[in-house]
Amino acid sequence: MGKVIIFGNQKGGVGKSTCTLLAANAFASEPFNLKVKVIDLDEQQTIGVLYEGELERGTEPIWELISYPESITGGKIHKFLKIFNKAMEESDVLFVDLPGYLDEGGKTDTVSPMADFIFIPFTPSDKDTYSTETYLLAMLEKKKQVFEEQERELGVIPFVNKIDTRIKSQIGYVKNILSSIESLHEIDGMKNMLGLYKDHANAGIDTNMYGGRREMKEKNLTKWINELHHMINS
Ligand SMILES: Nc1ncnc2c1ncn2[C@@H]1O[C@H](COP(=O)(O)OP(=O)(O)O)[C@@H](O)[C@H]1O
Ligand SMILES: [Mg+2]
Repeated sequence: MGKVIIFGNQKGGVGKSTCTLLAANAFASEPFNLKVKVIDLDEQQTIGVLYEGELERGTEPIWELISYPESITGGKIHKFLKIFNKAMEESDVLFVDLPGYLDEGGKTDTVSPMADFIFIPFTPSDKDTYSTETYLLAMLEKKKQVFEEQERELGVIPFVNKIDTRIKSQIGYVKNILSSIESLHEIDGMKNMLGLYKDHANAGIDTNMYGGRREMKEKNLTKWINELHHMINS
């Protein structure tokens, strides 16, 4: 039975799809070799379009994609749950790529209580504070709901993406967002931050940068993947 992992934030462009791709590629290959599936629920089909394109160019996928752009409200929930449960049974890790809205087609509401972990990427910008906190509060409600109804923990974990540590103002924004998150909700984030990298921007369905080039290692991707792996297994 697979662990269900979501990268979510109600803001677009923070790296939900990119982080899904980076983690899916890394976990599906050495040294993890896990059976990975990804469900793309975003109407925009960021991952779906990329996946199709790479398949057409002959890329051999190392994980399976399930595209599901339709809404999952009302009578449609049953159909989705069948697909979701099958994917969970057949994988070690199941990622779900969500749209950048809390309420698009019932998706976040349906999927978040079935997750094991919701990782919340945010970028070093004052524009991210409001959306990150709103999303975090909504997910902390889900955490309570999951604990009361299912008697289990739902991990809710923010982390920084796209930071350029040479830029002082970015460090300032990150500190502000983290301190308001931590003081309000007594919640721990991931230690490792993801930098702003050209290679990340080119993340594809076979872009495995885990343990890759020395430069990337120095820039924390390997550490971030290891921390992620450690968290979902502890
Ligand atoms: N760490 C990173 N370094 C460089 N570019 C990044 C990074 N994370 C995301 N991006 C780029 O930022 C843009 C938005 O990322 P995306 O994953 O589509 O965000 P979301 O799914 O949250 O809307 C994309 O162009 C992506 O390539
Ligand atoms: Mg996306």
